[in-house]
Amino acid sequence: MSATYLNSIIDYIGKKNPMQYKKLKKTIPFDDIEFVTRAETFFKTYDDILVSENKDMSFAVDCYLKMCSDMMVEQITFMETGAYTSTSFDEVNARVYSNDEIMSYHMNGLLVSQYLWDHHYKVLQFFIQNLHLFSDGVKKVLEVGGGQGLFSNEVFRHFDDKIDFTMVDVSETSIGIHRNFVKDHHVNYVHEDVMKYDSDEKFDLIIMGEVLEHVEQPLELMQKLHSLCSDNGTAFITVPCNSPMIDHIYLFRNPAEIVALFNEAGWEVALEIIVSSETKKTSIVDDPKVPVKHAAFLKKKK
Ligand SMILES: C[S@@+](CC[C@H](N)C(=O)[O-])C[C@H]1O[C@@H](n2cnc3c(N)ncnc32)[C@H](O)[C@@H]1O
Repeated sequence: MSATYLNSIIDYIGKKNPMQYKKLKKTIPFDDIEFVTRAETFFKTYDDILVSENKDMSFAVDCYLKMCSDMMVEQITFMETGAYTSTSFDEVNARVYSNDEIMSYHMNGLLVSQYLWDHHYKVLQFFIQNLHLFSDGVKKVLEVGGGQGLFSNEVFRHFDDKIDFTMVDVSETSIGIHRNFVKDHHVNYVHEDVMKYDSDEKFDLIIMGEVLEHVEQPLELMQKLHSLCSDNGTAFITVPCNSPMIDHIYLFRNPAEIVALFNEAGWEVALEIIVSSETKKTSIVDDPKVPVKHAAFLKKKK
C-alpha cells in the first residue's frame, strides 16, 4: 500500500511548518508495511468522516498544528516552573472538555498525531500485539476516554463483536468523535466524569489511554477501576510523564511513580512498555524534562 494520506498530510504540514516537516520525514517509518497499512486505513476512515462534515484533511492538519502550538506554550511553562499549568479538573472541564471549539481542534490534532508520532504508534502496536494474552473469558469491556476509537476498534476486531462495550467520557465532543470512528459497532455511551461513574456490572477488560493524568486523584481512579474489574479481569492503562498539555493536571515524573500508584490501588503489572518521544535511549526515563509514556496490562493482585 502506498503512503498516499501520510505523504499528503506531511506535505501540507511542510507548507506551514517546515521544521516539523523535516522531523516527521525522518521519524515516520515509511518502510514499515504494517505501519503504513494501518495508518492509511485509519486516515481513509478519517477522510470519509471529514468529507461527510464538509471538511478535508487541511482542517485536520490545522487542528494538529494548533495542538502542537498549545503544547509548545505548555512546554515552555513546564520547563520554567516544573509544573503543569492547571491543577483543577473543574477548571479544565470548563475551559476544554465542555468547550466544543477547543475540544474539537485538540482531539482532531491528537488524532492526527496518532500515526505521525512514533511513541503513540508504539503503544498502539504493543496493545495490538499483546491483547490475545489477556482475552480469556472477556465478555464485558469498559473504555474510559476512548478518543478516536483506536483501541476500541481493535477490541471489536479481536473479539469479533462478541462483547458488550461501554465507553465513559466527560466530553460530548469526544463521544461524537468516538461514535464516528466505531460507527459499525454497538457501544453503550456514558457522558460522565469517570470519578462519578458507577455500575453494578463488573468488566473483564478496562481500557484507559491517557486519562490518569487528567484527574486530581489518580489513586482514587485506579481504586475505582479495581472495583469495576472482574476478579480475573485486566486493565490496559497508558500514562504520559513530563508531558504538559492544556488538559493535563496530574504530573507523573517517571514510570516508577505510576507503577507504585497501581500497586497501591491493588494492581500488579503483567506486561509493560516505556516509550520516549525524544530518544530511543531508555536511560533517560527518569529525566524530569523528557516526556515518556508508560503503557501496561494490569491484573488484580491476588
Ligand atoms: C487525551 S484523550 C485520550 C484519547 C485516547 N484514549 C488515547 O489514548 O489517545 C483524553 C480523553 O479523556 C477524557 N477525559 C478526561 N478526563 C475525564 C474524566 N474525568 N472522566 C471521563 N473522561 C475524561 C477526555 O474528554 C478525552 O476524551
